[in-house]
Amino acid sequence: ETADKGGYDHYMLKEIHEQPRAYRETLNNRIDHENQRVDLSKEIHLSEDEIRAIEKIHIVACGTAYHAGLVGKYVIENLVRIPVEVDVASEYRYRNPIITPNTLVMVISQSGETADTLAALREAQKLGAKVLAITNVNGSSVARDADEVLLTHAGPEIAVASTKAYTAQLITIYLWGLYLAQIRETQSEEVIRQYIQALSQLPTQVEKLLEFAPTMKQFAERYAHYEDLFFIGRSLDYAVSLEGSLKLKEISYIHSEAYPAGELKHGTLALITNDVPVIALATQEDVYEKMVSNIKEVNAREAYILGITLEGNEEGLSKSVNEVIAIPRTLPLLTPALSVIPLQLLAYYAALARGNDVDKPRNLAKSVTVE
Ligand code: G6P
Repeated sequence: ETADKGGYDHYMLKEIHEQPRAYRETLNNRIDHENQRVDLSKEIHLSEDEIRAIEKIHIVACGTAYHAGLVGKYVIENLVRIPVEVDVASEYRYRNPIITPNTLVMVISQSGETADTLAALREAQKLGAKVLAITNVNGSSVARDADEVLLTHAGPEIAVASTKAYTAQLITIYLWGLYLAQIRETQSEEVIRQYIQALSQLPTQVEKLLEFAPTMKQFAERYAHYEDLFFIGRSLDYAVSLEGSLKLKEISYIHSEAYPAGELKHGTLALITNDVPVIALATQEDVYEKMVSNIKEVNAREAYILGITLEGNEEGLSKSVNEVIAIPRTLPLLTPALSVIPLQLLAYYAALARGNDVDKPRNLAKSVTVE
């Protein structure tokens, strides 16, 4: 079993470190480097006319895959200007969703076997939608039933807490968003070229981020005894906060919540004391100043704050936080593929410090095949 873990103590740590490879393999064969275009034509059977006709998109998933879907909303709405709704599958099925002839439903599932996701897929098809599945398992129920499939090439994921499958889902969403943008001509060739270049740099940037493991270990050990913790962020940083918070709670059992930083004043601030550490994500330049004001509000309540920002901002931010981690710069929509890495490491080391079974947390299963 140690051999399976490739020399790592746990599958989760191994899978965190496999991410550069998962990014490369998910990008592989999907980029036409000569023409600097994304090419999914070998996998997607929808015609260009059908793609041009899409009026809205519903993204449906559970758990971590749902969090990838939240990033997907930002990506698709910004790159392609198609309205996107994101639902957890167990809600979507029962909310009588409005599906028009030109609605595309996307389901995201690592295993391709999650009962609620599969049922949502079938419900959407019954209501007349075409379904595109993003899944890690070729031949899974979701892959078989969907009309269109894009595989994530993360390789088998064993740890219950998903890491490389989530980031491979993000990479696939970026590729899909760019493919839509090319066909619908919502972005210039120059912008597409910039995205392709930035995507190709991500694996090396992740390798660099993994070097933060000792820092995250130290931070996690210092905070492992707290019972409550908050993640805050705005826009894409909020979507990533939700994933960081889920990761932490599922394996460390620390109560943790993610909040959009602008909502702090509407309730959460009442809970911030010097006993509640806060992880503040500030990687989105368009809301950076607003985020810094939110961080200052939390700082004034004497919370211990770990800030996560972009390289170049660390000095400024260090005035308002106790510790800073700076992530390499990329295009704003791509930052989740980097900013989540330190949060995965934080969850891992916090669970380890608390003596928990990292790969098999209590009460949770890798794949939820019953309702
Ligand atoms: C379970 C797993 C999660 C996963 C979720 C959805 O809760 O523990 O890690 O995100 O199911 O699974 P799926 O295979 O559909 O992505």
